[in-house]
Amino acid sequence: MIEMSSTQIRQKFLDFFADKGHQVLPSAPLVPQDDPTLLWINAGMAPFKDYFNGSATPPNSRIATSQKCIRTNDITNVGKTARHHTFFEMLGNFSFGDYFKEEAIEWAYQFLTEELGLEVDKLWISIYKDDDRAFEIWHQDIGIPKDRIVRMDKDENFWEIGTGPCGPCSEIHYDRGIEFGCPDGCKLGCDCDRYLEVWNLVFTQYNKTEDGEYLDLPNKNIDTGVGLERLASLLQGAPTNFETDLFMPMIEFITQNCDVEYGESKEADLAIKVIADHIRSITFAIGDGALPSNEGRGYVVRRVLRRAVRYAKVLGLEAPFLHKIVAVVVEVMGDHYSELVKREEQIVKIIKQEELRFEETLEQGMNMLDEVIAELKEDNLDQIPGDKVFMLYDTYGFPVELTEEIASEQDFKVDLDGFEKAMQQQRNRAREAREDYDQGHGELELFKDLRKSLGASQFVGYEEQAVRTEVLGIVKDEQQVTKITAGEEAKVILEKTPFYAESGGQVADKGIIETDSASLKVIDVQEIADVIVHQVELEAGSLEVGAEVKAQITSELRVATARNHTATHLLQQALKEVLGDHVKQSGSLVTPNRLRFDFTHFEAVTKEQLRKVEEVVNQKIIANLAMKIEKMELEQAKEVGATALFGEKYGEQVRVVKIGDYSLELCGGTHVDQTGEIGFFKILDESGIAAGVRRIEAVTGQEGLNYVQQQEDMIADVATKLKANPDEIVDKVVSLQNELKSLEKEITSLKDKLASSQSEDLISKVEEINGVNVLIDGVDGLDNAGLRKMGDNLKQELDSGIIILGSKVEEKVAFVAMITDDLVEQGYHAGEIIGQVAQVAGGGGGGRPTMAQAGGSRPDKLTAALEKAKEIIVAN
Ligand code: ALA
Repeated sequence: MIEMSSTQIRQKFLDFFADKGHQVLPSAPLVPQDDPTLLWINAGMAPFKDYFNGSATPPNSRIATSQKCIRTNDITNVGKTARHHTFFEMLGNFSFGDYFKEEAIEWAYQFLTEELGLEVDKLWISIYKDDDRAFEIWHQDIGIPKDRIVRMDKDENFWEIGTGPCGPCSEIHYDRGIEFGCPDGCKLGCDCDRYLEVWNLVFTQYNKTEDGEYLDLPNKNIDTGVGLERLASLLQGAPTNFETDLFMPMIEFITQNCDVEYGESKEADLAIKVIADHIRSITFAIGDGALPSNEGRGYVVRRVLRRAVRYAKVLGLEAPFLHKIVAVVVEVMGDHYSELVKREEQIVKIIKQEELRFEETLEQGMNMLDEVIAELKEDNLDQIPGDKVFMLYDTYGFPVELTEEIASEQDFKVDLDGFEKAMQQQRNRAREAREDYDQGHGELELFKDLRKSLGASQFVGYEEQAVRTEVLGIVKDEQQVTKITAGEEAKVILEKTPFYAESGGQVADKGIIETDSASLKVIDVQEIADVIVHQVELEAGSLEVGAEVKAQITSELRVATARNHTATHLLQQALKEVLGDHVKQSGSLVTPNRLRFDFTHFEAVTKEQLRKVEEVVNQKIIANLAMKIEKMELEQAKEVGATALFGEKYGEQVRVVKIGDYSLELCGGTHVDQTGEIGFFKILDESGIAAGVRRIEAVTGQEGLNYVQQQEDMIADVATKLKANPDEIVDKVVSLQNELKSLEKEITSLKDKLASSQSEDLISKVEEINGVNVLIDGVDGLDNAGLRKMGDNLKQELDSGIIILGSKVEEKVAFVAMITDDLVEQGYHAGEIIGQVAQVAGGGGGGRPTMAQAGGSRPDKLTAALEKAKEIIVAN
């Protein structure tokens, strides 16, 4: 065996297959493009499904890659076994109707034994039970002894993930030796770490349909996959994948930052490995455009990240910590995956923000748990109900064990059955949602079939706004029909169409389809499986398949949309110019009325920056730049510097939209011919929509004018109300504010005067009870603060005495009691007295012996309450 770094292994693999005529392609992004059946790219073949099933042509019939993959179904095994990961690299060689079993087997064997120097005697082979040809090649051509070739069932040696290309496979295993095996001995197929599965060679012959049928593929193909981490563990003599150069730098960084050594204890090692694994998934996923959120892919990122945070807590690492490891991941992986280097800063910021947010959530969860426990204590209960445990889990990300732990510290139990029930209810909800989704999928299959029988739709809308054409198909309630009549809604497929189907953020065209006798309103247009589908309402007459129709879009809406679309391109470029090159589009919506553009940026865009952006865009409009739209190969488009989104496919024909020399973007949308047609561009709003993502909303053309006119009307309205000319309103407002301030001052001083004159009057009301000066009275309109001030004044005037005042304020009543120190010594207590007094007026309160305040809800009881005060003192 030849000792090798993981970088060397990866490169050797790609070079080896390049030598065998393979085109080496870069890894596709982890976020699948145009594949609704996959959450993540989870195998080397996943980006190539369309090449396998014949619906797209590969740039070469032989391809080799090192593909980034995410699989989270075994997440709980990560760190417990030698070889489970959430993120891994799959090295693969692929043949699309080119070579088959012979070469695939021969080359895999050659690479492992000659290039990497693995010992032949330690190789074990498994094949699909009746694949005699594979047996023959392994045994006769390669020379593997019969007893090291094992026939296995479909669950072991037939490769498929969900639907799509699949087939029987042959796996190459490496026997790591008895010390890696089970204590009582074990054989190939055992789940332990002895027979390490190194390479999976799939003989991709079938296409599995949604209904579970296996249809023959047009060609025989090869799909293979080797886990780079496993190869590295073998060639670096590492007991598990973690002790390789792919993970050790992260592991060292983690241990340097806490008081734990790697190898010190099982628990700590598990935590370290989990963090080292998870940080790779999160870094790569975010680098490829996924963002933590509460749905789908984003939810996976959030869950994995939170899981890592919890393990970081186990190690006593000070939060936020994870984002600091990103630099190490980039150091290890950045040479091969240069996108990481480019996006490092952004990835770090997103992870840090998410960590901070999780800390906050955890804190909120703790507060909520404290409240729940306090309430239960009041009711003398000692078990936290299942729905609360579930809420902590679901909303605040508390693992059940954490809730149990905190609960047990306070002698509380948790209702695990109730929790399970709540979980199950949620699963049911999710299942129902999935079923809805599957129904939508049935329609997808139907349109895929239609695509085969009718061909792809022809879109002529870049040049034409109206065409005469033929109805090729009608679909109603997920069924193909031949005719629809007035009042019905359906989906119509035309031979060619000027209608733009919603895509790239641009909404669909609207318009009509008509014959001499029928008229259909087009309410939406979608492209499904390359078929342009018009959602229509038949207003009059009837429509049959085969009918000649005129299809016509509503031009005004198309033109207004085009203004907004071209303006969106100008906006993107202007944002890059003003804020920096890190600005990347993360979403957009282009409608006839307005545009919305979401982009990566880490703080609010300042008012000055927004102004600048607005100015730049309007300058480009005034300059009346000409648009130039061309089709070219993706590679060429990248060479000329077009801004691309994530993951257009290699070799694809793309449409490049160029605005003068200012902006260059890949885009399939509709645009104006000259920027002058946009007329005017106005930003309405800027806001944050997710960690590191900002949104700008803007209008153009007529809508821009409408907006300015509305603003003008508003100013005129304000001016009328202020009785000023519009250009004087600012001065007028400032002078009104000044006036208001001086009036407020006057009111305060009048109130003070009132209070002190009331105090003087009050002094005359002091009476002597049991030899003590007592002043009990009701005053007008003073709130708590006012009453206290008055009480303080009175107390200063009386050397010794008790003061109890009440006041009606805004439907309520306020009380204050003050007692001089000498009388407190005699046993009088302001807090106790005021409590009983306020009770009479429907309230309560209390306080110190010298000063206390209270309130009540029954102003009508003020007199009675004050009488009560007198009674208390008389009785004392
Ligand atoms: N697609 C095969 C796998 O993932 C090679 O194992």
